[in-house]
Amino acid sequence: MSSQVKSYDLYTMQQKMLEEVIAGLSKPKKTLHAKYFYDQTGSELFEQITQQPEYYPTRTELTILMTHQTAIADRIGPVHTLIEYGSGSSRKIKSLLNSLHQLEEYVPIDISKDYLLLAATELAKDYPNLKIKAVCGDYSTPITLPVDPLLKKVIFFPGSTIGNFDPDEAGRFLQNSAQLLKDGDGFLVGVDTKKEPELLNLAYNDGAGVTKAFNLNILKHINTVLAGTFDPSCFEHVAFYNEEEGRIEMHIKSQIDQTVQVSGHAFTFKEGETIHTENSYKYSIEEFQLLANTNGFRSVTYWTDPNGHFSVHYLEKTST
Ligand SMILES: C[S@@+](CC[C@H](N)C(=O)[O-])C[C@H]1O[C@@H](n2cnc3c(N)ncnc32)[C@H](O)[C@@H]1O
Repeated sequence: MSSQVKSYDLYTMQQKMLEEVIAGLSKPKKTLHAKYFYDQTGSELFEQITQQPEYYPTRTELTILMTHQTAIADRIGPVHTLIEYGSGSSRKIKSLLNSLHQLEEYVPIDISKDYLLLAATELAKDYPNLKIKAVCGDYSTPITLPVDPLLKKVIFFPGSTIGNFDPDEAGRFLQNSAQLLKDGDGFLVGVDTKKEPELLNLAYNDGAGVTKAFNLNILKHINTVLAGTFDPSCFEHVAFYNEEEGRIEMHIKSQIDQTVQVSGHAFTFKEGETIHTENSYKYSIEEFQLLANTNGFRSVTYWTDPNGHFSVHYLEKTST
């Protein structure tokens, strides 16, 4: 890694993962946390999802960011530190790196360590004057970042990944994020909007089966890290829009009666029983503004595409 990139490891995966996986699989309705999709393979599969014709969010958000990059940079104003939650391939950050005024450092945070470090190293080649602090961490709990609290900061959280939290969790997440900021600092967040269920259902059931492979990869990840005995071929991918809840739900459905071990703990599955692996909440503009305005931020403005399929909101931290 070049001296331009520093890495910070704030995360010890194995113990926390074991506790959370055991707790999730022990519930009457089994769950797994969506963050466990992301080992190296999971990150690569997610990047492939973003290229699928049915998956409109990535290309729509990128178009919004590119179309409005000057307006976004002017609205944010001079900024010293750009923090990105769930940075993945760090592809979307480029429109901001190219347009923000007086930017000195970029702090990508991701749970998928190898992928994070690779993306940071690649990015450094294109931006040789940018200081990069790559943080392997879990943003779903409060974290302390290697940043100067007195300098102006903006957090970027693209991909509608905020939709993986339920609205109460998203509120707490925004409040925790506000703790990292001072008044006037910003939060730029990509949010998927409510729309026709057909379009949503297609986006999470691509014809090439990449989302299926991504969903089932969580089982392979558990096998690798926690000595699990899941046979992914005995499970199937299920994803649908739950209109009442305003969310896409992803599940993994057992195709047979079976027992699986995870680090010596046995879990039985009935044929047809599911593990709930992900929610992806969709918000109208007003719903998201209300969420932000009641959780430590002031909604300043937003940008959207002509079809209103995706939105990018700019929030400012308000005085406490
Ligand atoms: C839906 S992908 C979005 C990737 C990219 N930001 C984009 O918009 O295309 C979510 C990203 O967040 C990371 N991630 C998910 N949960 C996380 C958590 N709790 N803490 C840190 N990173 C997380 C994943 O590794 C992945 O890179």
